Amino acid sequence: MRVVITGAFGFLGRLLAAALLQTRTFDGVPIERLVLADRAVPPDAPVAADPLVDVVHGDLTDRLDAVFAAPVDVVFHLAAAVSAECEADVDLGMRVNVDATRALLDAARAQSATGGPVARVVFSSSLAVYGSGPGLPQTPVVSEATPSVPRSSYGTQKLICEHLIADYTRHGFLDGRVVRLMTVSVRPGPPNAAASGFLSGIIREPLAGLPAICPVRPDLRVALASPRRTVQGMLRVAQAERGAGPGRLDGPMPVNLPALTVSVADMLATLRQTAGDAVADLVTVTPDPAVEAIVASWPAAFDNTRAARLGLAPDPSFLSIVRDYLTDHADAVRTDLPDGT
Ligand SMILES: NC(=O)c1ccc[n+]([C@@H]2O[C@H](COP(=O)([O-])OP(=O)(O)OC[C@H]3O[C@@H](n4cnc5c(N)ncnc54)[C@H](O)[C@@H]3O)[C@@H](O)[C@H]2O)c1
Repeated sequence: MRVVITGAFGFLGRLLAAALLQTRTFDGVPIERLVLADRAVPPDAPVAADPLVDVVHGDLTDRLDAVFAAPVDVVFHLAAAVSAECEADVDLGMRVNVDATRALLDAARAQSATGGPVARVVFSSSLAVYGSGPGLPQTPVVSEATPSVPRSSYGTQKLICEHLIADYTRHGFLDGRVVRLMTVSVRPGPPNAAASGFLSGIIREPLAGLPAICPVRPDLRVALASPRRTVQGMLRVAQAERGAGPGRLDGPMPVNLPALTVSVADMLATLRQTAGDAVADLVTVTPDPAVEAIVASWPAAFDNTRAARLGLAPDPSFLSIVRDYLTDHADAVRTDLPDGT
């Protein structure tokens, strides 16, 4: 089996690659090659030395020949430009999020059309496909049946790809599976250009002893998932058997990964409870209307029934998410936190 991850050296791509390299199987079948494709490959990436791994370095559109140089059984398509980037530069978003995805889908289609395998294409979509605004009130609880009306270019681009994947799947060109990710928190490392980046920054930065700005009103409610649950969810949807009933993936509809609904105030209170006043006081609330307009248009409460049928559950609490972060990234946390953190 040959498995490809695009955007493999990004935040979630690395975690997904690590999970696949741990089991070394996909759906019970041994992985013979794991192809990690990204335009930015760190020179010292230890994963590149794994005997199972092939690295394809470069812009995805230019490197599809290398990705499809041998039959592809599964693609996790994660390469993307993120929300604030796409809002600031619509052409960039269209090129990376729409044009490159279409080129990837057409390469998979060409593979099956010439007698190769029907590739399983797992697409990381986003809760940003939903939106609210004037004349478009927020539904209190959102499910996959709720109409998607994005209010950002990023969400629009993700939705275009969702529809293309559903159509290519209907034609039998590929087996597409769309996983809508919640905002993943706590993301380690430097801040990124996602409008939701502060939902990690207000925890990560103070825990490292650094100041952080919270650009939204603290009563704003958001839908989060930990990195661990997000990767678990992507793998579960990717490996689910098609069909009706519990444990199976029915129909062409996307799967919204389970969401933990919290307010930003709850997140800050958890930080205070976990790390103490000095750390929590490093966060300053300074609303930024541009960020708030995007993030507040996203739904905060989800009906998780479809994901639950696949055995997926939301994180139990934001405290558990912070504890995961402290365990997984102890080296990025200041050492003088109160005992027991
Ligand atoms: N992290 C989240 O909170 C979140 C939430 C919803 C959806 N998603 C989606 O999940 C996926 C992964 O997110 P992430 O947080 O790991 O993002 P990331 O920005 O950390 O990683 C994306 C990777 O894609 C690569 N990439 C971008 N354009 C490329 C191109 N043209 N060719 C080759 N590589 C390219 C980048 O170099 C980067 O390594 C994305 O599709 C994103 O839209 C993420």
